[in-house]
Amino acid sequence: MAYHILVVDNDPLQCRSAQITLEKMLFYKVTTLNSGKAAIDLLTSEEGKKINLLLLDLAMPGVSGMEVLRAVKPVRPELPVIIYTAHGDVEVAVKALKEGAVDFVEKKDGPERLQVSIDNVLRLKRLEGEVSRLKRAREGQVMFSDIIGVSPAIEETKKLAARAAKSNIPVLISGASGVGKELFARAIHGSSERTGGAFIAVNCGAIPDNLVESVLFGHEKGAFTGAVEKTIGKFREANGGTLFLDEVGELKPDIQVKLLRALQQSEIEPVGAGKPVKVDVRIISATNRDLKFEIGEGNFREDLYYRLNVFPLNVPSLKDRGVQDVEMLLEHFCRTIAITEGKKITGITPKAREMLTLHPWPGNIRQLENAIYRAAVLSDGEYLDLRDFAYILAMPEAGKLAAIPAASGEAGRGFCTLALLDGTQHFKSLAQLEGDIIREALDFYDWHISQVAKKLGVGRSTLYRKMAEYNIKEPGQRKAEARMGS
Ligand SMILES: Nc1ncnc2c1ncn2[C@@H]1O[C@H](COP(=O)(O)OP(=O)(O)OP(=O)(O)O)[C@@H](O)[C@H]1O
Ligand SMILES: [Mg+2]
Repeated sequence: MAYHILVVDNDPLQCRSAQITLEKMLFYKVTTLNSGKAAIDLLTSEEGKKINLLLLDLAMPGVSGMEVLRAVKPVRPELPVIIYTAHGDVEVAVKALKEGAVDFVEKKDGPERLQVSIDNVLRLKRLEGEVSRLKRAREGQVMFSDIIGVSPAIEETKKLAARAAKSNIPVLISGASGVGKELFARAIHGSSERTGGAFIAVNCGAIPDNLVESVLFGHEKGAFTGAVEKTIGKFREANGGTLFLDEVGELKPDIQVKLLRALQQSEIEPVGAGKPVKVDVRIISATNRDLKFEIGEGNFREDLYYRLNVFPLNVPSLKDRGVQDVEMLLEHFCRTIAITEGKKITGITPKAREMLTLHPWPGNIRQLENAIYRAAVLSDGEYLDLRDFAYILAMPEAGKLAAIPAASGEAGRGFCTLALLDGTQHFKSLAQLEGDIIREALDFYDWHISQVAKKLGVGRSTLYRKMAEYNIKEPGQRKAEARMGS
């Protein structure tokens, strides 16, 4: 993410030279100001919140650097300040550090020293950010700012979710597997007025059918065989907070009726209690099934669907979010996993990064997180490299990773997308591969049969024979056959 640095120096020439140096070596956005007063005005304003780092001269006429430091610290305690001055005396340095500056750099030490200082500060900031994020996550508190990504698709989802967080409206979160449905549910809870209450997640698909009712609504002691203790159930655990019904599409019809009643009347009936109990819970549910379809199939109650789906929220798949989001997530997981696993990993090599950004990630963010986790645990180096991701390269969907740009003279062609492994993670047979190669080549050369035959080194008639053998049909032909119902 772009860092915005403010340089404050009464000498405009010094400002300009610092700006040129910084923009050249760090590609950061730099703003300069020539007086302490202007710096205080900016940093204490709304606009000033965009500044991520302050490079501050000490000896300035009027408001001095030290005064700027004192005025800004209470308002922006988290803003790192590096003292950058021509007057390098230790006493002043120590004083500035005591007042909250993070480093002291003398102008005469040159740009490299400045770069090291800035790098260190920003690295420290990122670590601090990560640590507080992890701490909040451990305490179960998630904010929208914890949801990584800047693509229009994810920004729009965050905006909608933030709106939902302002009220108690029931939200139904949909999206493919591993896209972050639960994270969104937690962020809605974390940003709502119920954040002080509990966030209780129930995976409706993971509870044995005969226990669902008691898990959700609780039971009295002795209500059924094996009910040796009274339990309060998830609804009452979530009282005053949020109940997250994950995989809600898995609930059986009899439970759907009871859930509907609980939602309509804000009361539940614990198994064996004989009388209802009032509850105050906010419901967020999630599914990766198409519930509309399930209604049509008679598997899901329409009235319950409308109770749950008052505010629909679709979390986009990673493939619809763009390369920048993937890169941000890679960086994010490298940092967090390095911290939690105590590894010295600081990044990913460009080759591996390229491969990872090309990967289609059918399992979305969960799969990406696991990939980094696995690579990080196995690696001893500072950078994760291609070989740390060998198993990803071996996946069937990793076709794109062949990623061989079209040969010269064949400009405009895409990538070759051939996978060597089948769905069971074993090598395909030679016959299967031959069929795949022919299919791939036909697509690659837009079904120019003579060209495909020539490139594959077989005659046209052999190619036609093999196409028949592997049941390979031109897309137009397939469609026509489908229309005719053959
Ligand atoms: N935008 C994001 N930024 C950071 N981490 C994310 C993001 N989205 C998801 N994650 C992380 O990815 C993992 C999977 O997310 P989550 O469990 O919320 O997905 P899900 O859609 O509920 O998955 P499933 O369909 O498997 O239930 C979690 O560890 C989550 O913290
Ligand atoms: Mg989930």
